[in-house]
Amino acid sequence: MNSRSALGILWVWMILVVGFNHETLGCVEEERKGLLEFKAYVQPYLNNPTLLQSWVDDDSRSHECCAWERVECNSTTNRVIQLSLNNMIDVYFNLNVSLFLPFHELQNLSLSGNSIMSFVENQGLELLGRLKKLEVLDLSSNFFNNSIFPSLGALKSLKNLFLCENAFSNPFSFEGLEPWGRMEKLEVLDLCRNGLDNSILPYLGALKSLKILSLNENAFTNPFPEELAGLENLQMLDLSWNKLEGLKTLARLEKLEVLDFGNNALDNSILPSLGSLKSLKKLSLRQNSFTNPFPYEELSGLENLQILDLSWNGLSSTLGLQDQGFKHLDRLKNLEVLDFSHNSFGRSIIPNLGALKSQSLKSLDLSGNNIEGTFTGQEFANLYNLQMLYLSENGFNGTPQIIPGIKRLRKLEVLDISNNKFSTTILQYIGLLLPNIKTLYLGGNDLSGPITDQDLSTLSELELLDLSDTTLSYDFLQNIGEMVSLKFLRMGNIKGLNGTQLSFKGNVPFSLSKSLSLKVLDASDNNIAGRLPGWLGNLSDLQVLIMANNHFKGPIPAEFCALGKLTFVDLSMNNLNGLIPSCFPKSLEYVHLQKNELEGPIREAFSNSTGLVTLDISDNMLNGSLPRWIGNLSSLGVLLLKGNRLEGNIPIQLCHLDKINIMDLSHNNLSGPIPSCLKNLTFQRLDGTTHRFNMDELDDPFYVSGPGITMSYSFYSSYVYKSSLREFTFSQNSGFFKTIMEQVEFTTKSRYDIYKGIVLELIFGLDLSCNQLVGNIPPEIGELHGIHALNLSHNHLSGSIPTTISNLKQLESLDLSFNNLVGTIPPQITELHSLSVFTVAYNNLSGKTPEQKEQFATFGKSSYEGNPLLCGEPLEKSCPGETREPSSARPTSNDQERGFDMDTFIMSFVASYITVLLGMAAVFYINPYWRRQWFHLIHVCITSCYYFVVDNLHKFSVF
Ligand SMILES: *[C@@H]1O[C@H](CO)[C@@H](O)[C@H](O)[C@H]1NC(C)=O
Ligand SMILES: *[C@@H]1O[C@H](CO)[C@@H](O)[C@H](O)[C@H]1NC(C)=O
Ligand SMILES: *[C@@H]1O[C@H](CO)[C@@H](O)[C@H](O)[C@H]1NC(C)=O
Ligand SMILES: *[C@@H]1O[C@H](CO)[C@@H](O)[C@H](O)[C@H]1NC(C)=O
Repeated sequence: MNSRSALGILWVWMILVVGFNHETLGCVEEERKGLLEFKAYVQPYLNNPTLLQSWVDDDSRSHECCAWERVECNSTTNRVIQLSLNNMIDVYFNLNVSLFLPFHELQNLSLSGNSIMSFVENQGLELLGRLKKLEVLDLSSNFFNNSIFPSLGALKSLKNLFLCENAFSNPFSFEGLEPWGRMEKLEVLDLCRNGLDNSILPYLGALKSLKILSLNENAFTNPFPEELAGLENLQMLDLSWNKLEGLKTLARLEKLEVLDFGNNALDNSILPSLGSLKSLKKLSLRQNSFTNPFPYEELSGLENLQILDLSWNGLSSTLGLQDQGFKHLDRLKNLEVLDFSHNSFGRSIIPNLGALKSQSLKSLDLSGNNIEGTFTGQEFANLYNLQMLYLSENGFNGTPQIIPGIKRLRKLEVLDISNNKFSTTILQYIGLLLPNIKTLYLGGNDLSGPITDQDLSTLSELELLDLSDTTLSYDFLQNIGEMVSLKFLRMGNIKGLNGTQLSFKGNVPFSLSKSLSLKVLDASDNNIAGRLPGWLGNLSDLQVLIMANNHFKGPIPAEFCALGKLTFVDLSMNNLNGLIPSCFPKSLEYVHLQKNELEGPIREAFSNSTGLVTLDISDNMLNGSLPRWIGNLSSLGVLLLKGNRLEGNIPIQLCHLDKINIMDLSHNNLSGPIPSCLKNLTFQRLDGTTHRFNMDELDDPFYVSGPGITMSYSFYSSYVYKSSLREFTFSQNSGFFKTIMEQVEFTTKSRYDIYKGIVLELIFGLDLSCNQLVGNIPPEIGELHGIHALNLSHNHLSGSIPTTISNLKQLESLDLSFNNLVGTIPPQITELHSLSVFTVAYNNLSGKTPEQKEQFATFGKSSYEGNPLLCGEPLEKSCPGETREPSSARPTSNDQERGFDMDTFIMSFVASYITVLLGMAAVFYINPYWRRQWFHLIHVCITSCYYFVVDNLHKFSVF
């Protein structure tokens, strides 16, 4: 069962449960009142008034509190057992703990991501000790300080405690260890990303029942005290991203199964003590400071070891000599995954691989090791159980001799030889040596040599083929159609015979009309001209079709209507013309048709695709009015219609799009007023899901879903976080990803940015600029609480700037320039502390400019110019009655004092200016929500799935 169907079943199950609740459940009155009291207490602080909307005191529905959002009840007793109150508050806030006391049966309480600093006066966490069933408490991503630690001991029933990312400080000291010792049931403790030093360790030693301990991304150094060694029940310990050099006291952790020691400063001296952890199954030592020769023998006693990660360590073997070291690895009888990637082994590793006879080894990674020369495959022949072999980013070249009687790697299914110097002859070899190969990464090689039908027929059972960035011959392209089993084919940016870009004036240079199993086809960034091929219509399993950035012309063929499973289509940056067909498949979720020459009205094109998440048809020549059916696309998150010739009013149906995060209707001929119902667009992620793990899930990857997000607990004991919808991931092995990410262009802060993958979920903006809109800016605009960018410039808007605009606390970019606005700029606008781009230029505004403080001290004349009646700094015109001495003309008599003022001014100016320059980076400081999301993203990338990072970090380089 794949995760999707599992999820489906889960949903069905949830719907059943919720449905059942609806009909028969009455919740306990005390708890119903308790929830309402909680709501009343937090209401003034909520990020968004739509949060907790279902929590209403309504007589007719008074007994439905079990069906309220973020509340879960026991279906037998109707008592509240879980409250997911995370990510609701972004202002500093003190919690009234007594509000939770009505929930006697509460088991699981999440308050993460709420900017909580502390508790109201005379309260502490010990109040929660009265909830005898409380097992899971999540306080991560808040601003708690050390004062909460002494009272933790009162939470005697607690099993899981999450305190990652708070504001704890060093040194860590409070009286007595005893309080923590009382948490006798605590099995999971997460203290990641807190900057903690060793002073906390004695306290941790008191938690005798701990099984999972996450201490990653702190500041632990040597000497490492003994205390952790007493945690005899520990099964998983994450110490990655600290500054540890060695740790000799680990030997007593006899039950430890998972140890992540990546990204520290360990040297060889740690190895003897690691070698005695007999229960270890997964060990990561990536990126440390080991020296050569590496004493493999020290690890040879780890009989239960399944995964060993020694990547990024500068390891090498002694040139020319048989390295005795590998022999010792042979004793790891259960080793399944060995990661040697990104070391410096060079060619000399090849003869030594013969010593790796481990029968259990399934996955070997030697990528990025400067291995040059020919590749015969014979080297790996002892590893006859190998299923996955990664050799990318080496200098292998490929004119192997076919050795008679060569041993075949019968079990190998995945081979990655991308970014080497292989030539076409390797293909004959692959078929001969690897009879069961299913996944082949060939990208970045020169495969332009002659090729026969036979060569490719040996690959006829391939399911995944990645040819991106390769040099290919015309024959090769012609024969691709013989690979009838293909499910995934990537052939983006292929190069022609002489290494230059392919250029096909005529039709598509290949046909896949027989590859009826194809699910993903990416042929983007080629120079293919001609019409889109009709055979696409035969590929009835196709889910992802990417042919962006070619020279396709002519209309989108009607055959597309037959692709009943298509979810992602990207035909952007071509010369497609004609009408958008009105029979696009219902299954569509992501549509990118931007930068073509499509014309005519949009008609009914996507009216039945109610699952649509992204619709980007910007920069075409569409005309006619905005279709009303867009309002039915209830999942729509991104709507980009910029740069067309659309006319008529903005239909109120657009106000129904309550999941929207980016809407760009700019550069059209839209007229009429801005509908006040736009306030219904919340521009905010509505996410109450908690992503947590428990012991039972330690071994198998598991999936939890939020809107658009899948989180899995990976092989290596860390999180893998990816957006299930925004990215299409080719993964054949945990920890190995090659990803296609969805990307979207949107202007914030006066520049185009490209947002990719998961970042897309975090951007909220509305752009109506460069249209013919008239009337007032509706005061309701102040209700778009989550919005980051608002651009209404270059219209004919009149009336005054509504004061409510100062409610948009997340706003980073506000452009109202080139309209007919009158009246004064509301002084409250200086409350927009996140603003880094602001302009009201070229209107008829009058009165005084906003006070020159904080962000507003950084906006120059250009933000206000073209408003003849405006006065005050930074404009030259001073306001009547104001005795302002222009700073430049100030007498220099009291230099001392003035110098001081000036310095302060310059300092604050420079600070703000840097803030602007740093762009996104600054946003993370200003906005706790974003900061957290970013840290989360970074964390999940760097902790374990470095492949993911290598492949994708540059894609986040918009930051
Ligand atoms: C609900 O409560 C009943 C009775 O106390 C208990 O037996 C059952 O395990 C509970 N279910 C859950 C999901 O907690
Ligand atoms: C090599 O590339 C150039 C530049 O595009 C092209 O004009 C030429 O025809 C190509 N030569 C061959 C042999 O394909
Ligand atoms: C949408 O679905 C309805 C009902 O199935 C159908 O009659 C109509 O033709 C469809 N419209 C489009 C544009 O596919
Ligand atoms: C906007 O939301 C309000 C309250 O939820 C609702 O009554 C109204 O119909 C909505 N307006 C539109 C145009 O969707």
